[in-house]
Amino acid sequence: PYKQRLLVVANRLPVSAVRKGEDSWSLEISAGGLVSALLGVKEFEAKWIGWAGVNVPDEIGQRALTKALAEKRCIPVFLDEEIVHQYYNGYCNNILWPLFHYLGLPQEDRLATTRSFQSQFDAYKKANQMFADVVNEHYEEGDVVWCHDYHLMFLPKCLKEYNSSMKVGWFLHTPFPSSEIHRTLPSRSDLLRSVLAADLVGFHTYDYARHFVSACTRILGLEGTPEGVEDQGKLTRVAAFPIGIDSDRFIRALEVPQVQEHIKELKERFAGRKVMLGVDRLDMIKGIPQKILAFEKFLEENSSWRDQVVLLQIAVPTRTDVPEYQKLTSQVHEIVGRINGRFGTLTAVPIHHLDRSLDFYALCALYAVTDIALVTSLRDGMNLVSYEFVACQASKKGVLILSEFAGAAQSLGAGAILVNPWNITEVASSIGYALNMPADEREKRHRHNFMHVTAHTAQEWAETFVSELNDTIVEAQLRT
Ligand code: UDP
Ligand code: G6P
Repeated sequence: PYKQRLLVVANRLPVSAVRKGEDSWSLEISAGGLVSALLGVKEFEAKWIGWAGVNVPDEIGQRALTKALAEKRCIPVFLDEEIVHQYYNGYCNNILWPLFHYLGLPQEDRLATTRSFQSQFDAYKKANQMFADVVNEHYEEGDVVWCHDYHLMFLPKCLKEYNSSMKVGWFLHTPFPSSEIHRTLPSRSDLLRSVLAADLVGFHTYDYARHFVSACTRILGLEGTPEGVEDQGKLTRVAAFPIGIDSDRFIRALEVPQVQEHIKELKERFAGRKVMLGVDRLDMIKGIPQKILAFEKFLEENSSWRDQVVLLQIAVPTRTDVPEYQKLTSQVHEIVGRINGRFGTLTAVPIHHLDRSLDFYALCALYAVTDIALVTSLRDGMNLVSYEFVACQASKKGVLILSEFAGAAQSLGAGAILVNPWNITEVASSIGYALNMPADEREKRHRHNFMHVTAHTAQEWAETFVSELNDTIVEAQLRT
């Protein structure tokens, strides 16, 4: 059968490289929602273009890594240390990421950030051009080029400059903020214009799409239509494509003997206690301190639960060269230590906090034994952890406590308990409500979410986006 050829371009490749010798590399699966969702996409003849997460200054290393990645259908973009510092740590993760999640610029070095804005933006454009060069090298006529996320907002424009007939889509995995926030970015217009060079622009939710269109109308003075944004007769289609997961992969994993073994161990380990779970990259947007403070408040007010409940928090290290993330790590450690000191006993502590990633099977087992999942993002594009938890809960039918500021609140809102993560009184009482929830209510809520998660998969998400992109181009040709 015909398979659409797809070039997936994202800053982060699905595998990250670790150097083992002059010309030998090992590859590890990268963490994060973007990679998870795209790994679930199988119906295409896809190649990945992106950064392998390491600096490779020498030619021998570059050649060996290129070869190792080729086996995974991945093509590397080599970024040197200075570019990574200015583009990835700086512009992407210290400026765009917090702004798109309504957190504002990092307080402490706000002025320093403001001063380095222009040089970081220059590095951002330069990096995007480097991605474009690699795409152009590997592009064949008829390929669909699908650009991903806030790292690559300049890419659609660079690609169209190479070849105006390239089919280019761009999808944002984070929220797109209100135009009032976007308006504060010195590079506000450049970013919008370059994204608009794409044929199709996609977001997780209608709200994000609407924010983007109003940024284009208010900041660029262009015309917003129900279809997208129009500039002198040229339409850029803008729409919502809520992402999903490969739910079968999780459901199947639960049958694997290794996972069943894990499940058995976990059940024994936490027998007699309700298990609450958090799985997040250790990121400001995830509201981890807020979550832990809410848990503390719950323990404070419900002394009878103290030895009957445990919170397992998996905090996957991320962007560890960015100072804000380093500060968050010590902040979280301090709070966890304090609470464990306060409520722990000689034999048990209320919070198990892990600063590392888990392999897929261990993660599935954890999801399966959990009674209550706690997702307290202050903002989150979608949040796939909430989907993965639901997929693994067919037998347990546990409760999902979910932030109203996660994109997932729009799809799992009817099954989850929605909370404002800033309101720790509300989160604490939701924990109590979830722990005491009768089985029939749990089942009803679970059924609602499970139907959604199994019906709206990553596969379907990608197919819808790509076919919409193809249609958009046909329609544009008909118009001219
Ligand atoms: N994840 C991971 N390693 C871990 C724990 C989680 O790769 O040790 C995955 C998790 O399964 C999920 C993704 O990381 O697919 C997180 O995606 P989400 O959309 O929740 O948040 P993001 O990290 O993209 O902000
Ligand atoms: C979020 C972003 C992704 C990113 C992931 C992990 O999901 O939307 O683009 O890949 O976080 O972050 P990292 O900086 O390690 O790629």
